[in-house]
Amino acid sequence: MKKEEFTGLLEERAKEAERIVLSYLPKGEGPQAKVYESMAYSLESGGKRLRPLLMLESYRLFSQGQKEEWVHPFMAAMEMIHTYSLIHDDLPEMDNDELRRGRPTNHIVFGEAMALLAGDGLLNLAFETVADALQQHAEDPVYLSRGIKAFGILSKKAGCDGMLGGQVADMLAEAKGEPCGEKELLFIHAHKTSALLQAPLMIGAVMGGASEEQVLCMERIGYNLGLAFQIQDDILDVTGSQEKLGKPIGSDEKNAKSTYVSIHGLEKAGKKVKELSDLAERELLQLPGDTQFMKEIFSYLTERDY
Ligand code: IPE
Ligand code: IPE
Ligand code: MG
Ligand code: MG
Ligand code: MG
Repeated sequence: MKKEEFTGLLEERAKEAERIVLSYLPKGEGPQAKVYESMAYSLESGGKRLRPLLMLESYRLFSQGQKEEWVHPFMAAMEMIHTYSLIHDDLPEMDNDELRRGRPTNHIVFGEAMALLAGDGLLNLAFETVADALQQHAEDPVYLSRGIKAFGILSKKAGCDGMLGGQVADMLAEAKGEPCGEKELLFIHAHKTSALLQAPLMIGAVMGGASEEQVLCMERIGYNLGLAFQIQDDILDVTGSQEKLGKPIGSDEKNAKSTYVSIHGLEKAGKKVKELSDLAERELLQLPGDTQFMKEIFSYLTERDY
């Protein structure tokens, strides 16, 4: 596929994913309307929509075009959880950043208390969305058995043994005030970033009817893709442009955060990204269907400048 053709298709798919995600956002009325406004502010503010997009692509590999609506609520829940993680990540108590997705961060606009609650609200809404979907398919044993599995993956990968655990280790490492070791850094990346890339790939596969072995393959792919993605994010924190990224550069240096870049330098980091994304791409060969587009997404993710 030519580069322009790929970029066009990716944009189209991101828009499609965004439409689906936003359709699950309630209007929000009553005395608590403010928290819905704050949640919508961050959820509607764009971003690459990578996780729901990957989930749909993964679903398509296994489902042969059947019942795409099965995976829609999980796509929405996934992006809600990711967005919540960003709102909290930007808080003064964490990375203390003031720009996200090209707009002032949630706490700058709504205040810290509301930003905390909006993050909590999105996390909760994610599970409400999945619970509704399970209830709507209560008579369908195939949906239920897949949906419950997917629900387990979503909650596990977001929680203390997933993204949240990685954020904890990230904060503790920062507080120590000394460069972290190789093992510690790997733990942080594997949890704060890989977990939320494993989840969409695995959930798409589960909902599409993949075998256990294929779901595990997706988990390995998400692991390596996530490590590559985070190192590229850390590279861009040094070499990128705020305008393209929609978030401040130099955030890691400001917080004296240990990253692959601060420990090994830019050149070695670039090589590592390539190595890890090659690993992820190679594993794709074991999966059914046409994995070409997904392969190109992986390459773009690790070569991106935004
Ligand atoms: C940012 O994720 C957080 C990291 C894991 C580095 P994205 O780069 O996917 O952010 P959006 O969704 O495009 O804003
Ligand atoms: C954050 O990593 C990963 C999350 C779980 C939010 P970063 O702190 O590097 O993400 P950015 O650079 O703020 O997007
Ligand atoms: Mg952070
Ligand atoms: Mg951050
Ligand atoms: Mg970063």
